[in-house]
Amino acid sequence: MAKQIRFNAFEMNTVGHLSPGLWRHPRDRSADYKRLSYWTDLAQLLERGKVDGLFIADVLGIYDVFGGTPDAALGSAAQVPINDPMMLVSAMAAVTKNLGFGITANLSYEHPYVFARRMTTLDHLTDGRIGWNIVTGYLDSAAKGAGLDRQRAHDDRYDLAEEYLEVVYKLWEGSWQDDAVVRDHARGLFVDPARVHRVQHAGEFYRVDAIHLGEPSPQRTPVLYQAGTSSKGRAFAGRHAECVFVSGPSVAVIGPRVADLRRLTAAAGRHPQDMLIFALATVVVGETEAAARARYDEYRSYADYRGGLALMSGWTGVDFSTLDLDQQVRHVESDASRTALDNITRADPSRIWTVRDVVDQLSIGGIGPVFVGTAQSVADQLEAWVDATDVDGFNLAYAVTPESFVDVVDHVVPELQRRGRYKRDYAPGVLREKLFGQGQARLSGGHPGASHRIGATKIAAE
Ligand SMILES: Cc1cc2nc3c(=O)[nH]c(=O)nc-3n(C[C@H](O)[C@H](O)[C@H](O)COP(=O)(O)O)c2cc1C
Repeated sequence: MAKQIRFNAFEMNTVGHLSPGLWRHPRDRSADYKRLSYWTDLAQLLERGKVDGLFIADVLGIYDVFGGTPDAALGSAAQVPINDPMMLVSAMAAVTKNLGFGITANLSYEHPYVFARRMTTLDHLTDGRIGWNIVTGYLDSAAKGAGLDRQRAHDDRYDLAEEYLEVVYKLWEGSWQDDAVVRDHARGLFVDPARVHRVQHAGEFYRVDAIHLGEPSPQRTPVLYQAGTSSKGRAFAGRHAECVFVSGPSVAVIGPRVADLRRLTAAAGRHPQDMLIFALATVVVGETEAAARARYDEYRSYADYRGGLALMSGWTGVDFSTLDLDQQVRHVESDASRTALDNITRADPSRIWTVRDVVDQLSIGGIGPVFVGTAQSVADQLEAWVDATDVDGFNLAYAVTPESFVDVVDHVVPELQRRGRYKRDYAPGVLREKLFGQGQARLSGGHPGASHRIGATKIAAE
């Protein structure tokens, strides 16, 4: 049977997200990101479409690589102004029952002891629908804001992340026994102290000597998402990620990355089915092919090329203001995102990218494909991508919000349901169970986080 296709909606607590300039489109509401009603309406819409999750990107720092100033980013609203994504979750959880929330949080500037409690809080308040997109950042501007001269070197950030995860696993999985909260009225005992254990960690980057502050939440460890796909990033994903977000313009770029991620997951001793892979894409739907194409062209007429290049400069660490429009983009080593630069240099040797091509690509939906057509032809294109790359679904960005998401929910989802390639209802349970099956509320046995469970530690020690 053909594989089911999963959808996340891809958002950011900002204006325009991956379609800089389209905030000027008369129907775009992305500038309402500051209003709770924008988010609660969106959450309800997505739940109507049986979308697995709202995946909210986040970036600390401003995109000031382009021309060495933040002016292009500020002028075009390229992911600035930007608010905290976590604050949105409670309100959306209150108006939904099944939608998951994949929240991006940068671990470089927050101690794991503090962060672990914030995630536990959201796992409680959402009844187990929270996920964490693990990122370490790519902008020096964030490091400078946090009192450093520059960000940590690329590969060192993954080493930091490795230890960070060890610490949060210990806090989430190893501090409180499942039966620690007794609420024993007769004995006047709320928590049995004998069932709460102190985490003692002394590593290269972190020291912790504490018990976790939150009582056990439905999933304990949130569903873990990851996105960087450099070789170090993929190895990290193979060990830790339950969902991976891949981005690239073509099947030729995405297919090999997916195969490698599946191989690395198995090499890390995990079941390949314990990882779901989502590809970035944007959908533009019309009643006819011509109407869809006209809508796409109309959207593009609002694109702001300065914003696109400000984003690409920040992602790659390469100042695109110094390059000629018809100049080929060449690979260099930088401490920013290797995935972003690989996408337009060496990921597909058969394709040469000039700066003009980059501008063109980034007008809508970042580096991902834009599927344009009727609901039927968009469904054909999505199916073809899944079949050719072996991804499990898509992280769907918007051109104009909420219009792009309405088109998906009202037109593309019913078409895929008719074809038997999209669920008709959510699976029961917490987010991890909805994604991986009943009885999977906690990290699976082969996952490194599971080894920090109280029982697991004891067994290992015996
Ligand atoms: C598709 C994709 C989405 C990403 N989303 C974010 C994000 O929301 N916030 C962030 O700080 N970094 C984000 N990143 C950056 C990665 O987490 C990572 O720091 C960066 O890509 C460098 O790792 P790499 O060289 O392994 O790609 C994203 C990267 C990719 C490829």
